Amino acid sequence: MKFNLQHKDQASKARAGRILTDHGEIQTPIFMPVGTAGSVKAVHQRELTYDIKAQIILGNTYHLYLRPGLQVLEAAGGLHKFMGWTGPILTDSGGYQVFSLADSRKITEEAVMFQSHIDGSRHHFSPESVMDVQRSIGADIIMAFDECTPYPCEWNYAKTSLALTQRWLGRCKQRFDTTEGKYGYQQALFPIVQGSTYKDLRQDAARFVADQDMEGNAIGGLSVGEPAELMYEMTDLVTDLLPKEKPRYLMGVGTPANILEAIGLGIDMFDCVMPTRNARNGMLFTTEGIINIRNEKWKADFSPIDTGFPSHVSSFYTRAYLRHLTISKEMLAAQIASIHNLSFYLWLVAQAREHIIKGDFLPWKNAMVEKVGRRL
Ligand code: GUN
Repeated sequence: MKFNLQHKDQASKARAGRILTDHGEIQTPIFMPVGTAGSVKAVHQRELTYDIKAQIILGNTYHLYLRPGLQVLEAAGGLHKFMGWTGPILTDSGGYQVFSLADSRKITEEAVMFQSHIDGSRHHFSPESVMDVQRSIGADIIMAFDECTPYPCEWNYAKTSLALTQRWLGRCKQRFDTTEGKYGYQQALFPIVQGSTYKDLRQDAARFVADQDMEGNAIGGLSVGEPAELMYEMTDLVTDLLPKEKPRYLMGVGTPANILEAIGLGIDMFDCVMPTRNARNGMLFTTEGIINIRNEKWKADFSPIDTGFPSHVSSFYTRAYLRHLTISKEMLAAQIASIHNLSFYLWLVAQAREHIIKGDFLPWKNAMVEKVGRRL
């Protein structure tokens, strides 16, 4: 994997760059649609490529390990071949999902013991096993095994947890450096900065991660219920300490406004279930603000979903029709809404990139944050 920084904004910390992987190029800043279990929910691979213009998608180690399992993934020749996606993939390590999804879990120095949320079966994830699983899945970018602290979190717990995440990173690196990709292309390992909402811990975590000199760096433990201002403060602090010549990934963020603000703080990569999950509940993000499509006010509104950006789906279907499909629980509702929301997110980050290169990112961002946060 290679990263070229192409342009730095003068008035903010925003950057435009390019990540080169063996499965293609990613232009940053970028949003990565979440394809947890080998599918971006309600969206075809062709739609991901041609309608949404996704450049990289995300998969989850926890889900893929439980189902379909490593035997199937290896027999398929890895996740790319299994799902028919030829572009780059990033997998999260399971560090987050084990804590948020598993039925019961016990954390020790050695590993996390957990029970599957699917059938209650018992498993364990260690830094080493999670590297092995991500070698078998075969994503282009894989994540270190970490503990994502909840919010709020006592300083003492956050400190102890951070120390464990740091020791686990050493073990992840050791395993990663002594193994190889299984399918003939390169994989890159990203460490994760934790430290909850404490400045001293975040700084320690960022310096520790910077010293590892890895191919890219991630920030975790944010967007877990803390006020947005605190998330920005921590992000700002950490991006000041992470190397400039490596991509920076803010995990699990966020709303369109969160993403625009974090781009201004020097973040290059994002993922979040929000555009797809909220689409399935009838929440649409548009160039004019946020729509709850179930609302009575759209009942006979025959205007298109959104004509503010180029998207076939968003210009073709009316708000009234999508409302009808949503209320009627038609599967097409989830498809249209998911394609719309993801197309909007990908358009938004592509616009941010253009404005960074053009030199007017900050005023554009400020105007856009105000617009996309409105409730229509
Ligand atoms: N996704 C969102 N936040 C996190 C985090 O802190 N750690 C991991 N592994 N994944 C995340």
